[in-house]
Amino acid sequence: TSYFSYQQDQLCVETMPLAELAKRFGTPCYVYSQVALADGYREFAEAFKSREHLICYAVKANPSLAILNLFARLGAGFDIVSGGELQRVLAAGGAANKVVFSGVGKTVAEMKLALEAEILCFNVESAAELERLNEVAGSLGKIAPISLRVNPNVDAKTHPYISTGLKKNKFGVAYDEARALYRRAAAMPHIRVTGMDCHIGSQLTEVSPFVAAAEKVLALADQLAEDGIVLEHLDLGGGLGIRYKDETPPSVAEYAEALLGALAGRREKLIVEPGRRLVGNAGVLLTTIEYLKQGEEKSFALVDAAMNDLMRPALYDAYHEILPVIRFEPSPQSSPASGGGGERERQLLNYEVVGPVCETGDFIGHDRELAVAAGDVLAVMSAGAYGMSMSSNYNTRPRAAEVLVREGDAHLIRERETIRSLFANERVV
Ligand code: LLP
Repeated sequence: TSYFSYQQDQLCVETMPLAELAKRFGTPCYVYSQVALADGYREFAEAFKSREHLICYAVKANPSLAILNLFARLGAGFDIVSGGELQRVLAAGGAANKVVFSGVGKTVAEMKLALEAEILCFNVESAAELERLNEVAGSLGKIAPISLRVNPNVDAKTHPYISTGLKKNKFGVAYDEARALYRRAAAMPHIRVTGMDCHIGSQLTEVSPFVAAAEKVLALADQLAEDGIVLEHLDLGGGLGIRYKDETPPSVAEYAEALLGALAGRREKLIVEPGRRLVGNAGVLLTTIEYLKQGEEKSFALVDAAMNDLMRPALYDAYHEILPVIRFEPSPQSSPASGGGGERERQLLNYEVVGPVCETGDFIGHDRELAVAAGDVLAVMSAGAYGMSMSSNYNTRPRAAEVLVREGDAHLIRERETIRSLFANERVV
C-alpha cells in the first residue's frame, strides 16, 4: 500500500493534496505520513512478535524529533551513532535503556554521555575503542554493557558506498579476531559483555546475505559459549531495502521469517536496527519548478530543491521517482513551441531535473518524462530516509521545512531555516 497516490489528478498524502501543502508551507518541503510511519513500525513488531525482540530504529535515517517521538510511543528502541543522536532520542521521549550505540569513532564525551544515560549497549567496533570504554566507564564508576560488532565478510550486493560488511570496510572487528577480543573484554573490570552485533550494508534487496551474516554471528556465539561467555542478545543490524523504482525487496514478514528461522532454538534476545525501511517510503520532498530551460542538448527543469536538500542522487546516483503534484494532460506537440518554457504549455518532454547549486552533480533526476510548466510543484518520492538527515547548507541555502500529516491535519514539525540562523555562530575578525 502506498500512502501517496493520485486521487483524480491530485497527488495526495493520505487524502490531503500535496499541492495544498506546498502552498501552505512553501517549498522545498519534506512531507511525512504518520500512518505510513506507524504502520511501518507495526509491521516490524508484528513480524517479530513470536520471539523476544527489540526494534532499534536507526536514527540517522531520519532524526526528526516528531518521528523519534512517534516511534518511542510505539515502543521502539533506537540505534544511535553519536552523542547528538542520543540527546535527540532523549529529548523526543525515547528510553535510554532501549538504545544501542554504533559507530567506529565514539569520543570520550560521547561515551560519558551514554554511560550516564545508562544505555542498553555499546556496539564496539575495535580493540582500541574497547580499551577506551573500559577506562571511561571506570572513571565514572560504571560498568559498560557491550557487544562487539563483528564483520561477517558477507557481500550485501548493494552500492559500494553503503556496503559495510566486507573485509575492506572500516566497520566492525575482523571475524577471526573477534573471539580473542571477546575474551579480553570479558576480563575487563568495567565492561560487561552482553551481545554481538553486525550490520552488512543498506538497501539490501535479498534475504540471503542477512541469513549468511546471521549464521556467522551464531557460529561465533557458540564458540564464545565454549569460553564461558554467554550472550544475552544478538543484534543483526539494519539494511532492509525499499522500492525506489523497480526493486523487489523482501517483505518485512519474509525478512523476519528468514532471521527467525536462522535463530530457531536460540535463547538470545533479537535486536534489529531498521532505518530506511521504516521511513523511506513514508516521506516525499516537494519542490517547485523555477524555470524550464532548453539547453543545447537537453531540456532542464530547474527546481528549488537541490543536492543540499537531497544528496542521494548526487552521492550515489540514486533514483527517486519524480511526480507532478497536479497531473495535466500534455499539450499537443504541434502547438507553437516556446523553447520548452512556454507559459501554460505542458509538452511531454524528457527533462533533467536539477537544482540551483553550482555543481554539475547537482541533480535530482535524469531523463524524466514530464508534462510540466514553470511554477508547477513536483514530489520527489521515497525521500523519507537519508533525505533531510543528509542535508546541508551548501550555497548558504536554508534547510527545508518538514511537515507531518496526521489524521487529516498537517503539522509543521521543523520550520524552514532562516538565513540569519545560518551565520548566527560566525564572527568577523
Ligand atoms: N545499523 C547500522 C550500524 C548502520 O550503519 C545503519 C546504516 C543502519 C543500522 C540502518 O540501515 P538501513 O536499515 O537504513 O539500511 N546514506 C545512505 C545509507 C547509509 C546507511 C548507513 N548505515 C543512503 O542514503 O542510501
